[in-house]
Amino acid sequence: MATINDNYLKLKAGYLFPEIARRVNAFAEANPGASIIRLGIGDVTEPLPSACRDAMITAVEEMGDRSSFKGYGPEQGYAWLREKIAAHDFQARGCEVSADEIFISDGSKCDCGNILDIFGNDNAIAVTDPVYPVYVDTNVMAGHTGDSNDRGEYDGLVYLPITAENNFTAQIPSEKVDLIYLCFPNNPTGATATKDHLKAWVDYANAHGSIIFFDAAYEAFITDPELPHSIYEIEGARSCAIEFRSFSKNAGFTGTRCAFTVVPKTLTAKAADGSEVELWKLWNRRQSTKFNGVSYIVQRGAEAVYSTEGQAQIKALVGFYMENARIIREKLTEAGLQVYGGTNAPYVWVKTPNGLTSWDFFDKLLHTCNVVGTPGAGFGAAGEGYFRISAFNSRENVEEAMKRITEKFKVA
Ligand code: MLT
Repeated sequence: MATINDNYLKLKAGYLFPEIARRVNAFAEANPGASIIRLGIGDVTEPLPSACRDAMITAVEEMGDRSSFKGYGPEQGYAWLREKIAAHDFQARGCEVSADEIFISDGSKCDCGNILDIFGNDNAIAVTDPVYPVYVDTNVMAGHTGDSNDRGEYDGLVYLPITAENNFTAQIPSEKVDLIYLCFPNNPTGATATKDHLKAWVDYANAHGSIIFFDAAYEAFITDPELPHSIYEIEGARSCAIEFRSFSKNAGFTGTRCAFTVVPKTLTAKAADGSEVELWKLWNRRQSTKFNGVSYIVQRGAEAVYSTEGQAQIKALVGFYMENARIIREKLTEAGLQVYGGTNAPYVWVKTPNGLTSWDFFDKLLHTCNVVGTPGAGFGAAGEGYFRISAFNSRENVEEAMKRITEKFKVA
């Protein structure tokens, strides 16, 4: 009989968001009249910008004409999109990133997992706690961990707690780690990193020969002009960091699918024989073999993000969700809850009231207010006692959810 990848058996029951969906669906089935408002998974609700839609419609028409029809595209993405990204997202901010260091993909979540293909199995890996569960689960699947304990922590991973006490920024580890996952603006806490904080990580990584996986999927939500949007704004990052970006949240592409990963050509890691190998070459090889690129139509839609209209439209979209975040922060604070994040990120991180566990608070909110959020414990042991509310929803739903919560959860 064929055998399985036994590492999958080490994973906790289900991926966080499907598990939440399962509980919510069970509640909805038992309470068919309940009007449930979903502020759990960070999924966008507002329509695609018209600039992107128009570009995709034109691209569909091109596909209907033999003279402009496209078959397989470059696995790395079309040059016209990569050049716009390099110029707009990096060079305009003083970052030295060239178009051929950008790899277009169908999502940051996928790339965060796929990137492990080009790394060895003996790396010491550090994650913050709480953390986006994909970083942990993909390492478990790849066999980079042992089993988990009763707190859900996997043997072999280095957990760096981020809590209110350290302002949700991890302390640089005292031991040597080889791969470090950082996410700023942070999912789930909504915390941000200053240039000084990132510089400390970059210096650590360069001193130890470590690689930072920098997830910047939420950079568009930064409102503070002092905060860095890319790790390449930090001197020295080109020799230690890979950056993940996405069109999902800024341009509403969660269902359309387009993202990109930056692998500088100056980045190396060690082979078994001790030689230094360029990671760019390995990632290029990996993508050329296992990926056939994002569809031409979708890449044209993503390109339109960089047009004058596209820029104005995504600014409005981001502003809309950030106004939701402001309302959530304001109303929950009025209700006596302690809130964090939500000023440079679309997530508000809430301290659960009256010592409730985060899953108890989840159930209470679902049952009494019919509002869905995400329990902090689902992001890691140090997320216990916290709860994430997503600002991705309509204004009407956000206002209604806050009305219900403030009525039911007035903390004395
Ligand atoms: C989240 O809710 O954390 C995000 O939607 C997950 C994701 O982007 O994959």
